[in-house]
Amino acid sequence: MPIEQTYLMVKPDGVQRGLCGEILSRFENKGLKIVAMKFMVIRKDVAENHYGEHKGKGFYDSLISYIISGPVLAMVLEGDNAVAVCRNMMGKTNPQDSAPGTIRGDFGMVTGMNLIHGSDSPASAAREISIFFKPEELITYKRTADDWIYE
Ligand code: RTP
Ligand code: MG
Repeated sequence: MPIEQTYLMVKPDGVQRGLCGEILSRFENKGLKIVAMKFMVIRKDVAENHYGEHKGKGFYDSLISYIISGPVLAMVLEGDNAVAVCRNMMGKTNPQDSAPGTIRGDFGMVTGMNLIHGSDSPASAAREISIFFKPEELITYKRTADDWIYE
């Protein structure tokens, strides 16, 4: 079982619209395990580091101002193939292309307000987790429900 960790973040629009609980519920109900969580406003330099791959693109400035415009709910979730599982649950970058049943497909209308971030690969996950969490903030524990989620 390839257990992975992934970095997820309810973006400022998701927080302002009161969707933190709804979004977290989906991941919990699916069977992902909460490893860390933090409610914060991202500093501009941290946002620029996190979204460094997009520097120079046309949407970069608006992306940075959007992601620092209010608090976000940052979290590390763990599970079998967690990066891909969570990306599938998020839907496509443009919510209008996202399937119903996905977070962006159910709650979003435009790319610039697409509610949630999720790491796109295990390497990105490791990089992003280290940006937002100290190693000691990742909690190791036995979750009894795992015996009924995994065979
Ligand atoms: P994210 O990194 O936030 O999880 O989203 P993603 O992988 O689905 O999309 P990515 O290509 O990494 O883009 C990062 C975020 O930048 C904004 N964006 N705007 N106007 C545009 O064409 C455009 N393209 C991307 C979105 O907020 C996207 O989630
Ligand atoms: Mg991305």
